[in-house]
Amino acid sequence: MKPGLPRLCLISPERARLEAWQAALGRMAELESVVALHGRPQTMAARAAQAGELLLADIDAEDASISALDALAALAARAAGMPLILVCTRQDATFLLAAMRAGVREILPPGVDAEALRAAVERVAAGLRPPRARGKVLAFVSCKGGSGASFLAANLAYALAAQGHSAALIDANLQCGDALLFLSDEPPVRTLADAARAGPRLDASALEASMSAVGPLPVLAGVEDPAQALEILPEHLDAILAAAKSRWDWVLVDVGRNLDARSLRVLDVADLIYPVLQTTLPFIRDARRLLQVFRGLDYPLEKCRLVVNRHERRGDIGIHEVEKTLGAPVARLVPNHYAAVAASVNGGIPMLRLARTSPVSRALLQWSRECAGTPPSRAGWIHRVLSLAGIVMKGKPHVTETPA
Ligand SMILES: Nc1ncnc2c1ncn2[C@@H]1O[C@H](COP(=O)(O)OP(=O)(O)OP(=O)(O)O)[C@@H](O)[C@H]1O
Ligand SMILES: [Mg+2]
Repeated sequence: MKPGLPRLCLISPERARLEAWQAALGRMAELESVVALHGRPQTMAARAAQAGELLLADIDAEDASISALDALAALAARAAGMPLILVCTRQDATFLLAAMRAGVREILPPGVDAEALRAAVERVAAGLRPPRARGKVLAFVSCKGGSGASFLAANLAYALAAQGHSAALIDANLQCGDALLFLSDEPPVRTLADAARAGPRLDASALEASMSAVGPLPVLAGVEDPAQALEILPEHLDAILAAAKSRWDWVLVDVGRNLDARSLRVLDVADLIYPVLQTTLPFIRDARRLLQVFRGLDYPLEKCRLVVNRHERRGDIGIHEVEKTLGAPVARLVPNHYAAVAASVNGGIPMLRLARTSPVSRALLQWSRECAGTPPSRAGWIHRVLSLAGIVMKGKPHVTETPA
C-alpha cells in the first residue's frame, strides 16, 4: 500500500495486452496499485470507477468512435473527473477533440512499448498529485455596484501578463460575471461552470482548457446562466483556486459584491483583498459595512487594501477623510479618465493596448510593477519542464506517435 498515490485501472478486451500492461506498470513507484479488468471499456464503467483514480483503456479499431468516447466521458464523470489514457489507432483531429472533451489526457498507439507506456502514466499521475501552491490570490470586491472592481481586476491581470508575468484572471462573480468583456469582444467558449464540473480533481491542465486566452492572459470567464451559478458550490471554488495557484504566480479574482458562502471561500483563500470604492458617500458607506464584515471575519488589517477608483484630485471628499471614516489606509488611487476607459470598455480592448498613455494605464502599470517587485516562489521543475514541452499544462491530450 502506498496511500496518497493514485490507483490505476486497466481495461482491455485482449487478455494478452492486459498482461503486458500489468508487467510494465505493476511496480511503478507513482501508483498505489494496478487493477486489470478484462472487457470493453464501455461496459465496465461501474467497476472501473471503483477500481481506480486513473484509467488506461484500450479501444479497439471497431469501437474507436465518438460514441465510445461518450461512454468513457460518462465513466469519467461518474468517477469525479477520472483522467483517461486511451490506447487506440484513431488519431484524427475530430477524434482528438472529442477525446479531449471526454477527459482523455494521453492517446497511445496499440503497439506502444513499456517505456512509453510508463512515461504516459507517470505524466498523468503527476497531474493527480495535490498541487503545490505557489501563486498569490488577489481578490477584487466592489464596495458598491459600478465601483470598477471588474475593470481593475481585468486590466491589472492583463498588465501583469503583458509584462511577461505569470498571471491569470478568474471571474468568480456568480451574479453577473462580465470580467472577460473588459478585455475581449469574443464570447467565451467555456466558463467557470465547465471548470466546476470537474469537481475536486480539477487540475491546472483541465482548468486551462476551460479558459479563454486574451493575448498573454488566460481568463476563466464568469458563469453566464443564473441556473448554472446556483450549482456552483464553495468546494468548486476551492478546487479552481487550488489549481490556479499551482499554475500561475498571480491569480486575480473578480469576486463581485455579493457575500455568500462561495465568495467568502475566495476571500478566505485570498492573500490580498482589494475592496474598490469611489469617493462619494454611498460608496464610502458601503465600504464601511464591508470592512466591518471583514473585521468580523478576523481578516488581518494588512490583508485588506482599499482602492479608490475614479479619483479626482479636486473632489469634494479627500482621501484623508475617506481614511478617517473607514479607519483604514487607502492603498491605491486610480484616477478617473472617462474617455479612455469608456473606449476600452465599449471595445472590449485592454487599457494597455488601447490607451497606454492614459493616467489609468499608468496607474495600472505602476500597480503591476509593485506586485511583481515581490515575486512569489517559483514552480517546481516538473511543472516547468512539462510547460516548456507543451505537455499536460495545455489541457490537450498528449499524443504519442506510432513508432515508424
Ligand atoms: N478609472 C476609471 N475611470 C473612468 N471610468 C471608470 C474607471 N474605472 C471604471 N470605470 C467605469 O465604471 C464602470 C463600472 O465598472 P465595473 O463594471 O468594473 O464595476 P464593478 O465594481 O465591477 O460593478 P459590479 O459590482 O456591478 O460588478 C466601467 O464600465 C467603466 O466604464
Ligand atoms: Mg463587476
